[in-house]
Amino acid sequence: MSDNPYLSGNFAPVEDELTASDLKVTGEIPRELSGRLLRIGPNPIAADPRTHHWFIGNGMVHGVRLRDGKALWYRNRYVRDDAVVAAKGWPPVEGPKREDQIGDGVANTNVIGHAGKTFAIVEAGNLPVELSYELETKCRSDFGGTLPAGFSAHPHRDPDTGELHTAVYSPAWEHIQYVVVGPDGRVRKSVDVPVPGRPMVHDCMFTKSYFILLDLPVILDPGVAEAGFSLPYKWHPEYGARVGLLPRDGGADDVTWHEVEPCYVFHPMNGYEDADGRVTLDVVRHPKMFATDMQGPNEGRATLDRWRIDPTGGPVKEERLDDEGQEFPRLDDRRAGKSYRFGYSTSLGGEFSLGGIKKHDLRSGTWQVHNEGEQRAFMEPVFVPRSDDAAEDEGWVMAYVYDRSTNGSDVVILDAQDFTAPPVATIQLPQRVPFGFHGNWVADDE
Ligand SMILES: [Fe+2]
Repeated sequence: MSDNPYLSGNFAPVEDELTASDLKVTGEIPRELSGRLLRIGPNPIAADPRTHHWFIGNGMVHGVRLRDGKALWYRNRYVRDDAVVAAKGWPPVEGPKREDQIGDGVANTNVIGHAGKTFAIVEAGNLPVELSYELETKCRSDFGGTLPAGFSAHPHRDPDTGELHTAVYSPAWEHIQYVVVGPDGRVRKSVDVPVPGRPMVHDCMFTKSYFILLDLPVILDPGVAEAGFSLPYKWHPEYGARVGLLPRDGGADDVTWHEVEPCYVFHPMNGYEDADGRVTLDVVRHPKMFATDMQGPNEGRATLDRWRIDPTGGPVKEERLDDEGQEFPRLDDRRAGKSYRFGYSTSLGGEFSLGGIKKHDLRSGTWQVHNEGEQRAFMEPVFVPRSDDAAEDEGWVMAYVYDRSTNGSDVVILDAQDFTAPPVATIQLPQRVPFGFHGNWVADDE
């Protein structure tokens, strides 16, 4: 047991890399699901409890492979960085390397499939780490020499073009870099947008016409590092908070900035343009971040809010959609950047305590909760459509769950349109999956 909450309970790392076959299933896995449900988070290999911040632990990826109604395997593997290979005595990771890499080249925040490859990714300047289908680390990647610097943890795929749109930042930069990766896995555009400081830029969004930048008051603060904490960012409300609209075909001079009340947003749920040209951005909004707690995100209730932005100017209209605590907002990714009706999120209490998951009907302003009791902590919900031409919300919501009563984990598959019903399938895993950040369904035909 550690004094650092992010090294205790189900935040604590797991020791072993396991491979398990033919997992035990309750219910029936839909036969339409052929692919891998991947998930990633920190699994620190040698953390100092006094200074450890949840966000910087070495990465570990977990995956469950589904096909023909069966759970063929579970695997968990370190995403190898310089510290992991040194501690384990493994060979160095191959591939390009950035001089300014942080945290020994850690990649712990998201895992995606793109251009037929699997990548573990992180913000603040490190390169993506390419993984094999079976989740072994292959190499660091700069997308075939096309990536101008590092990458981010939150690229968003435009369903119409197959491009990834993302915001890259570095502690060394006073700009945010808009990067577009083509469906071929090569960068086809980048734009450096100057900002007045060095903000932490966790995520971003896009609409049909705009790339949306978040310039919010969590700022690089050398005093935090001098005080011995490992994540050198702090709440500075005097910096101000604003949203930038960059025309997707434009340059840095074309950005318009729109002030919002100081807050922090890790994750938008979605963004889109209305018929009148206004931009709607739905976000999970934290009232502040890294103001008093320098070990993890724990500064009051995170709510679901809607910001309406007029690109021609005027105040941003800020509206609360749901006052209950939540995080990890997702949607049917086929609606990314477009008007949408349904979103999904994880219920979140104080001290980053996870519970059930929510399905929001944004048209009616109502929601449903899938909760399996106090012992069951759901991680990020991932929506998978039943088929390419299925209606929005017609498909499944999948999540990794930690069960406090067994100190074990499973994967739950819900029918999205029967959200409060018992799962259609629950897949038992051979070990617990620590609380982490993000994951995705990577279909085999992607
Ligand atoms: Fe995130």
